Amino acid sequence: MDHFVIVGQNPLVGKVSISGAKNAAVAIIPATLASNGICILENLPVIEDVTNFVQVLRKMGAKCKFLDKSTLQIDTRKISAASISSDLLKDMRASYYILGALLGRMGHVEVPLPGGCNFGLRPIDQHIKGFEALGAKVSIEHGTIKVCAEKLVGANIYLDVASVGATINIMLAAVYAEGVTTIENAAKEPHIVDCANFLNMCGASIKGAGTDIIRITGTNALKGCTYTIIPDQIEAGTYMIASAITGGDVTVCNIIPKHMDSLTAKLAEMGCQIQEGGDWVRVTAAKQLAAANVKTHYYPGFPTDLQPQMTTLLARAEGTSYVTESVFPNRFQYVEQLSRMGVKIKIDGRMAVVEGPVRLTGTEVLATDLRAGASLVIAALAATGITKISNIHYIDRGYENLEQKLAALGANIKRITTEDLPVAVEA
Ligand code: EPU
Repeated sequence: MDHFVIVGQNPLVGKVSISGAKNAAVAIIPATLASNGICILENLPVIEDVTNFVQVLRKMGAKCKFLDKSTLQIDTRKISAASISSDLLKDMRASYYILGALLGRMGHVEVPLPGGCNFGLRPIDQHIKGFEALGAKVSIEHGTIKVCAEKLVGANIYLDVASVGATINIMLAAVYAEGVTTIENAAKEPHIVDCANFLNMCGASIKGAGTDIIRITGTNALKGCTYTIIPDQIEAGTYMIASAITGGDVTVCNIIPKHMDSLTAKLAEMGCQIQEGGDWVRVTAAKQLAAANVKTHYYPGFPTDLQPQMTTLLARAEGTSYVTESVFPNRFQYVEQLSRMGVKIKIDGRMAVVEGPVRLTGTEVLATDLRAGASLVIAALAATGITKISNIHYIDRGYENLEQKLAALGANIKRITTEDLPVAVEA
């Protein structure tokens, strides 16, 4: 069991290079199952969700070979199993993409019901509605979801919620449906566009990804391709917020600045100085952060995956801030751990009322999920004294080399294993 030990109050200064997008990678890796060829994926993040997925694909008969640490060759010509029950899948949300990816190609597929971060109920009714509209039969038995279809036929599908997962899953299945499928009220997140671009490189015909109407014209076969994954919007945002909370000056490189618009606007409103180039954003912290109101929304709104980090930053801002979580109603569970570090946050349903500025103080805390873990790291970087964060396997699921990247910016952060304890850290 690893922990992070962080000695706070060192301003972060310098440049950090952002890795490939986790949520694009965990869609595009299973999407390779739809192709009958060899795919080379470049700019993959080196994170646990990726390595776990690679093991799952291997169990299904795909040949996977890392050409370097972030480049993976996947040969999906011989898939031996369309049914997979693996412990590796039980904590993963994106396991459900195996359903969409293999349905058209194999006619039947089954996976354990998806896991992932616990923000309360995370239904998959829109995925099921989409598969059924294309002509598939869906059943759930003993914790496994089974989907089968002799033939898929294009349909018009209106999503009740603009779900990222449902949009990608339906897109994956519709690639092999006869005729045209239309997804209305589709999600517009950058990784949806990335997944559509990948499928199009394999020979699919998908138009409108990135808007709320996506049209997919079915095909009989997909070939392999070489594809480069987009940079991680959420990793980038986490470092931008870390710069702002430590009184730092960080240039976040290898990103698509447009993806960061909702965050850069908020940081500017709070008093930070923002500069942008073709593939970088520089965040120079404000002398005193001003309070701001934040409402999470589907892209291009403020991402729910940056809400815990932003709420932590607002705890250091002067005045009262209101944070409304409109994507996952229960995504404030992390506040309990943050309050151990001194934040003054009251939760009222979907809203957090944040009083600031508070003095953050280091202590022992537990990451309760991936972004909750990131928010604790951010708080620890700004806190007086030493913070020990446990359960960091959650953080490892989504951040490549977090401690190395932060240390290169000047943070005092160490990863320790239980056997290493007690650790001597200089405050
Ligand atoms: N929803 C339904 N029915 C469905 C699907 C979703 O009601 O069939 C609801 C959900 O309950 C939620 C909302 O729609 O309230 C949005 O869920 P969505 O399907 O968009 O989320 P997801 O696909 O489960 C992905 C990311 C999450 C990210 C969300 C929102 C992956 C693997 N996960 O989840 O990423 O928070 O989109 O952007 O892509 C993370 O990276 O930390 C993370 C949790």
